[in-house]
Amino acid sequence: MKTFGRRERQALVERERAVTVIGEPEAELEAPRDLHLDSDDPRLEKLRNEVMERIDPVAAGALPVAELRRQIEALLHSLANRERMEISARDQAALAEKLVQDMLGYGPLEPLLADERVNDIMVNGPDKVFIEVEGILQRAPVRFRNAQQVAAIAQKMAATIGRRIDESSPLVDCRLPDGSRVNVVFPPLALDGPYISIRKFARRRFDLQAMVQNGSITSQIARLLEIAARCRLNVIISGGTGSGKTTMLNAMSRMIDPRERVITIEDAAELQLQQPHVVRLETRPPNLEGKGEITQRDLVRNALRMRPDRIILGEVRGAEAFDMLQAMNTGHDGSFCTIHANSPRDALTRIENMVQMGVVNLPSRAIRTQIVSALDLIIQIERMRDGQRRVVAMADVAGLEGDVITMNDVVTFQYVGEDATGRIIGRYVTPATRPSFYDRLQYYGLGEAWMRTLQNAFE
Ligand SMILES: Nc1ncnc2c1ncn2[C@@H]1O[C@H](COP(=O)(O)OP(=O)(O)OP(=O)(O)O)[C@@H](O)[C@H]1O
Ligand SMILES: [Mg+2]
Repeated sequence: MKTFGRRERQALVERERAVTVIGEPEAELEAPRDLHLDSDDPRLEKLRNEVMERIDPVAAGALPVAELRRQIEALLHSLANRERMEISARDQAALAEKLVQDMLGYGPLEPLLADERVNDIMVNGPDKVFIEVEGILQRAPVRFRNAQQVAAIAQKMAATIGRRIDESSPLVDCRLPDGSRVNVVFPPLALDGPYISIRKFARRRFDLQAMVQNGSITSQIARLLEIAARCRLNVIISGGTGSGKTTMLNAMSRMIDPRERVITIEDAAELQLQQPHVVRLETRPPNLEGKGEITQRDLVRNALRMRPDRIILGEVRGAEAFDMLQAMNTGHDGSFCTIHANSPRDALTRIENMVQMGVVNLPSRAIRTQIVSALDLIIQIERMRDGQRRVVAMADVAGLEGDVITMNDVVTFQYVGEDATGRIIGRYVTPATRPSFYDRLQYYGLGEAWMRTLQNAFE
């Protein structure tokens, strides 16, 4: 004969009562059921989601931890009561603690943020997280519980700059407290969203020496870059996304004389200049009413009134190209900036187009004349298919022939082959001719050093 345990008996009693008391919701009458934290009970998931839904991640970030824990515990308690779930006090506290961790940290992203080898983190969906390690994209062994958790973490990131992401403002750029750069796209723009892209702040500082060691450049290229920075050439660093432009800008800026007054202008501050006299400016997006925007262009113009010795523009991407050229042409030599372009020639075309965005009806020839007199050197970088980032060309912006800007190669990287591990082997070739900016090198006493580096070092 089948014997009923206490719980079954009670359930039976409850069920009988449920038949007699018509109209009461069944849940009210169900007997309490135990919930264990270390089980895979689906109610646990439900409970967790309900708590997450009810707590505003932005407000949570602003609360003291103890207060947040207390509120979550209270919420858990009332939700468990409503669902008639028995959850022990110890489990309740432990669950609350886990939820607090989820809300305060960046959940599944924490280990990736802590891993120094990871450069980029891209979240395309709860179980589609990708990372870039040593130049190679790969899937990361982490997953979010669901899209809500991705959204909550994205909200928390945006909250650091006081922004909320929602349907009316689904695109947000922000920065984590450690300086990592974050972009978030929410639905409806993100079809499988929300999407999060993180360029991690490089704790490891790359200087030219470190680049020589890891094979991004040779020591001769390092010497040329150093001379270019010391002689106050106007330099454009060009490359694709994530090719290492900002890192190169940082590395070259270390060669700047500490006595100079340097003004940096960026959309999201990433530069880490070591000089004592650096003034950092950052743009501001428009507010919710679409007002109050301060663009890079505004900042470049303003910088000119701040007595700069050099202006460093994190990335030229629009109308400020015109003002930057103006600055370079009016005695602010030694300016650096980066540009998203696939070759030195492409960089010039893009600058020309950007200038046209800023100043309509300026004839092409006038723009090219400006470009030629402003720019000295273009450094092209590439993340190559073996994952290695390399300087692949340096070009001298020499002059104007008819309507065409002439550029001379300073060095170019030539592919030779691959080693057994698939690593690309190559060498730099150079015509070893005098650059158009030779006089300037001479003025700083480094003309011969430049030529010697070119002639002797490349066989
Ligand atoms: N020479 C290098 N060797 C190894 N890693 C590098 C090198 N240069 C850059 N990196 C790493 O690659 C990542 C991208 O670098 P960086 O931010 O400089 O690229 P970027 O071209 O400025 O990108 P974006 O187009 O997004 O602005 C960083 O995490 C950086 O640490
Ligand atoms: Mg950059």
